[in-house]
Amino acid sequence: MNTAIDPGPSNRTVYAIIGLLVAIILLTAGGYLFLSGSTPAALTVGGPFLLIDGDGKPVTEQTWHGKYLLVYFGYTYCPDVCPTTLTNVADALDKLGAKADRIQPLFITVDPKRDTPPVVKEYAAAFGPRIVGLTGSAEQIAAAAKAYRVYYAEHRTGPGPDDYSMDHSSVLYLMGPDGRFIAPVRADQTGPEIAAVLARLMG
Ligand code: NI
Repeated sequence: MNTAIDPGPSNRTVYAIIGLLVAIILLTAGGYLFLSGSTPAALTVGGPFLLIDGDGKPVTEQTWHGKYLLVYFGYTYCPDVCPTTLTNVADALDKLGAKADRIQPLFITVDPKRDTPPVVKEYAAAFGPRIVGLTGSAEQIAAAAKAYRVYYAEHRTGPGPDDYSMDHSSVLYLMGPDGRFIAPVRADQTGPEIAAVLARLMG
């Protein structure tokens, strides 16, 4: 047997280790490429939407082009989280002074069955003149919620057609004047806290 051709047992071990290291490097590189390739997509929130405003008119994200959008998904029958959040948003905008004129808060319902245009209009107006309520067909709402990665689901509370509540994620999304996603804003903050976060994010 020619030992120059046949690596002995110890050399085989060395080759095995080298092979393993190469495999690890390739896997790591692959993982890095995979993550770096998917990270921008994973962070993409928002995008084009077609919805209906409180007057029954179609609106898109372009309707407020040039303004920051503060987007929130909820529903008007929400017992606590939505009204608390919208109260705090209205409070935050009051605290922001002139900066608030550059922000359009949008309340998008996840319950279009009950939240017709007049219902979202009246509901949003109850929190002051700034917040605009939006609704749409079930398909339009589903598409907008998907774009913003919002979870919502009907939760039955009884046998009647109106006996349900909506489970929904509760996050504010700040979109830039160019329509690009800037950052999520925690919805469980007080008005002054939200105002401080917005002021910082707007620079
Ligand atoms: Ni709610």
